[in-house]
Amino acid sequence: MTTPAQVMLRAATGLNLSKQVVDRAIRARVVSVSARDADDYLERMTPEELTALVELVVVPESWFYRDQQAFHATAGYLKQQLQLDPNRLLHVLSLPCAGGEEPYTMAMVLLDAGIPADRFMIDAFDISPVCVARAKTGVYGRNAFRNQDLAFRDRHFEEVSKEAWRINDAVRRQVRFQQGNVLDLTMARRAAFYDVIFCRNLLIYFDKPTTSAAVRNLDTMLKRDGLLFVGYAEVPSLCANGFTPLQYAQAFGLVKNAEAALRKKACEVAAPAPARAVKSGPAPVPKRPLAAGGSPVTAASPAAPKPKPGPAPVPAPPPAPARDLLADARRLADLGQLKEAERLCRDHLAQQPEAAEAYFILGLINELTSKHAQAQDYWKRCIYLQPDHYEALCHLALLADTSGDAAGAAALKARAARIYQRQQAS
Ligand SMILES: C[S@@+](CC[C@H](N)C(=O)[O-])C[C@H]1O[C@@H](n2cnc3c(N)ncnc32)[C@H](O)[C@@H]1O
Repeated sequence: MTTPAQVMLRAATGLNLSKQVVDRAIRARVVSVSARDADDYLERMTPEELTALVELVVVPESWFYRDQQAFHATAGYLKQQLQLDPNRLLHVLSLPCAGGEEPYTMAMVLLDAGIPADRFMIDAFDISPVCVARAKTGVYGRNAFRNQDLAFRDRHFEEVSKEAWRINDAVRRQVRFQQGNVLDLTMARRAAFYDVIFCRNLLIYFDKPTTSAAVRNLDTMLKRDGLLFVGYAEVPSLCANGFTPLQYAQAFGLVKNAEAALRKKACEVAAPAPARAVKSGPAPVPKRPLAAGGSPVTAASPAAPKPKPGPAPVPAPPPAPARDLLADARRLADLGQLKEAERLCRDHLAQQPEAAEAYFILGLINELTSKHAQAQDYWKRCIYLQPDHYEALCHLALLADTSGDAAGAAALKARAARIYQRQQAS
């Protein structure tokens, strides 16, 4: 059962926090403010105290050049934009920015790529005032430098004391830090302002409705043809909320669906469509990634080769009734009709006992009711039957993360990333 403190913190941050994490944070604050007990503490809650409590539940984990392909993809994209209009001022958003490692990396990569300092500006937000203050100081210890190649540190930092490096002013000037919540509606005032948005490693901690609310804000702030970069496990949520993945290897970039459709159309105009052998019929069903809602997503990319005329596509057979059961189960689960969704999955399994997708949906249903052990069991069965089930691997990684199994989580993430890359390439 969700406690009132969990509800309060979720309303403040969007984070889907376990009772243990919340109770631990409250115990620490009870001691700090000399409250009698948790009830006494919660009764005396103020906005300032809530901010202090939030500090104890956020995960401000970040480092320089983390998943660096996204930064290089951004540099390439922004250079293209400047070729089209050299007088433009380009805007990048890093939300959440944690201690500033991500936006500073962005600034270093863009400067190193030869983009003039007066052609781009980076805004960086995080809900945590402590993170924002740390980012503004620009001083970092060893933990922020986890990459093998540290040449960037020699170029852009100076050592200020033993094991502490301060970022140069030339890089600092490119980033504006501010406290901010991705769920705050006033964010949307920056409508169509950003050419590129980084929102990495936050949405995985949100539930579905919260993710949708956050994505709505990001969507509003992103220019029509802008790029959005997320963490690898967050791609499916974005697909379910109006975005299409691009084929930058390991960068996990997406564009708005409407923009993807336009790019696809431009490709079709450029290359004559192959003659169709069959007049009408259902379109071929692309392989994964699937949107969380169950609909397949076609990847469109500026880097994607133009379609070549080739053999006419073979129309897929009409969907089998068993497949409809699963689509219905997903839909019902989305609507919160979990019992009915579960029944459909079991009916499906009665017909096809090796249906990995049915086990995947059963995992989701159990996760939604906080039955984590059962969810894990179903997702394990899913990947046993279908070892490249990307979403199941992501969910298992998240479960391992939240239960403190960092090594297990890292292995599952690496496996999911490999599969994602393979699927993008195919
Ligand atoms: C794991 S860090 C990710 C930092 C960086 N994007 C990266 O990938 O390295 C997650 C950050 O999200 C911030 N955060 C949590 N909830 C937030 C919210 N609702 N709005 C903005 N930031 C939030 C936390 O304070 C934390 O610094």
